Amino acid sequence: MQKNLFGFDNKILHFEEVSSTNTYAKEHRDSLEHGTVILADRQTTGKGRQGKEWLSGDGNKGLGVSMSVLLKAQGSGASLYPLLCAIAVAEALEELSGGCVMIKWPNDILIDGKKLCGILCESVISAGEICVICGIGINVNQTEGEFLKDNLPYAASLRMLFGREFSCHEVVHLVLRKLEQVLQIYQYKGFAPLKQTYLNRLVNTSKDVRVIYHNRTVLAKACGIADDGSLICEKDGGQFTVNSGEASVRGVYGYV
Ligand code: BTN
Repeated sequence: MQKNLFGFDNKILHFEEVSSTNTYAKEHRDSLEHGTVILADRQTTGKGRQGKEWLSGDGNKGLGVSMSVLLKAQGSGASLYPLLCAIAVAEALEELSGGCVMIKWPNDILIDGKKLCGILCESVISAGEICVICGIGINVNQTEGEFLKDNLPYAASLRMLFGREFSCHEVVHLVLRKLEQVLQIYQYKGFAPLKQTYLNRLVNTSKDVRVIYHNRTVLAKACGIADDGSLICEKDGGQFTVNSGEASVRGVYGYV
């Protein structure tokens, strides 16, 4: 049984500091309602994909957004949540900025080839239900110096790209509204109507990529996505797929 997806805005728990909003959601999942949003000004050990660290901009200073949305009883298809979140964030940032927002598989959000947002979806079983924790980190008002000091040359904020400040509050609420819309479509119609929406923003299609998984790098051509969100790649005349939970991709000569 799917649960009501409306009203994320009414279920926000806002913390000054947590270790990681994903970790908080995971540890408290049994007592938190479906659709609860954990929002934090600071994360002391923010987590990125594939065991990497994620450095978030301080929300209290309006620099960045760090939040996780807890979704319960979503049945099968947990592998699609990274892609569903990416669509929601891309649509929200495009509406706010007017820029052309693209997605690097599975869920990096890019403008002009720079990464503005990272998404980490984790799923855990709790009392027989699947809980999916959708963690979203958005760079809002950081300056270039902050990313260079942290040796993140591919990162950018909305402010750097558009030359003005953005409201973290507006970013949070628009992302949550878009996420509700995307999840409703997914709940009632499945992934089929969203697949083209995702593909329209995907930067990797028909590109030569380095696929990084299980400590290996394989050169291949990205040629699309499967119905479970895996990336379909071609190599030596054959095809293989890689799962969003285990792999990431880079361009042959750089980030994209
Ligand atoms: C990535 O691109 O590697 C994913 C980054 C995900 C960062 C967000 S910030 C909110 C949530 N809490 C975490 O610890 N990580 C995610």
